[in-house]
Amino acid sequence: MGFNCGAYIGAWTVFVIVYLNITVAAVEFSLLADLGIDSLPDKQKINISLEEYTSVITTYLQLKDDTFEEVPELRVYRLDNLRQQDTSKHPLKMVFPISISTEQVESASVRLLLPPQQNDSSTITVRLNQILGTRRRRFLQDKELYLSSRSPKWCDFDVTPAVHSWINGQRNLGLELVCLGCRNNLNPQQAAITAMIHTAQKRAKRSLENSVKRISDCSTRHRKGKKNKCCRHEMNVTFKDLPFPQLENIVEPKSYEAGFCQGLCPAQSNNFATNHSRIQGMMHQIKKNQVKVDNKKNTIPKTCCAPSKLADLQIVMVNKDNPMKLTVQTWEKMQVVECACS
Ligand SMILES: *[C@@H]1O[C@H](CO)[C@@H](O)[C@H](O)[C@H]1NC(C)=O
Ligand SMILES: *[C@@H]1O[C@H](CO)[C@@H](O)[C@H](O)[C@H]1NC(C)=O
Ligand SMILES: *[C@@H]1O[C@H](CO)[C@@H](O)[C@H](O)[C@H]1NC(C)=O
Ligand SMILES: *[C@@H]1O[C@H](CO)[C@@H](O)[C@H](O)[C@H]1NC(C)=O
Repeated sequence: MGFNCGAYIGAWTVFVIVYLNITVAAVEFSLLADLGIDSLPDKQKINISLEEYTSVITTYLQLKDDTFEEVPELRVYRLDNLRQQDTSKHPLKMVFPISISTEQVESASVRLLLPPQQNDSSTITVRLNQILGTRRRRFLQDKELYLSSRSPKWCDFDVTPAVHSWINGQRNLGLELVCLGCRNNLNPQQAAITAMIHTAQKRAKRSLENSVKRISDCSTRHRKGKKNKCCRHEMNVTFKDLPFPQLENIVEPKSYEAGFCQGLCPAQSNNFATNHSRIQGMMHQIKKNQVKVDNKKNTIPKTCCAPSKLADLQIVMVNKDNPMKLTVQTWEKMQVVECACS
């Protein structure tokens, strides 16, 4: 017996499981098609400049609805006067102007315009480390790069943990880029860290506005009520954990809080979605009482705890027809805002 309406039957046969897997695969594919991501951009040609990134992300942040969640600010830390380093002998070192502050980092990437490399179609594997001391390093990411033999190309690495540590007081000794198979120098022509930041002022402003409760979750709205009532629970979805390579092209957000609905819907619930649900709840109760008398099956089900209000999600993706561009898409009804018995 669970909170949900779906009946869980323990003894599925092998046939049912196989059938179910095929059906699930079809449902997943139709989801990708509906979201417009059933095909991938050419990975080798992705070349998103800093200007393209900042301009599209600025638009995206303006589109984001701040009634449901705190919208971060985009911050760009450029590395000016790049000096040439001998990258054949030592890994490339870069120190970005980021220091301790009261802000919170949601995510951060380093964006580099790297010079052409000799071999066109072959890939090179590059490792990014955070420098912690003369010999101490913290591994951040290994990445396969498809650099061109003719023109420079943009690439990016996730540096969220490093930026997080600098803002929280760790000494900023910079980042180190290690390339094993590189023949030419790896001195970037441009370098910047872009970060999604939650500022202290904005957070303070939000807590003043707390009458605008973003999302009604179980913890707040139903705190005093009976346990296990139908309400909204937290569910964090990280796109890269889902089994679709198509989702790797999502630039923002990397994860989001989708929420789900769970809980009991008794006849005396004060959280019915519609007038119809109230009637259904009553009918269920009436039938239940009759059933006790004439020993028949109750044909009227209880109401289900289900989303009653959903929000759209803005997504920034690499444009599959032009891998030098990003696009902002709106995916409808991706986030539960409220739950009710329905
Ligand atoms: C990548 O984009 C930059 C402009 O930001 C351009 O100068 C460069 O030629 C492009 N490289 C390739 C390989 O397309
Ligand atoms: C680049 O290509 C040359 C031959 O064109 C080859 O000998 C060399 O191993 C290649 N280097 C890498 C890093 O793939
Ligand atoms: C979801 O993510 C938020 C923000 O990172 C975190 O505070 C929260 O504990 C997470 N919730 C769950 C259920 O993992
Ligand atoms: C029930 O119907 C009344 C009259 O139309 C309406 O004002 C009210 O909002 C409805 N309640 C719900 C929960 O839909």
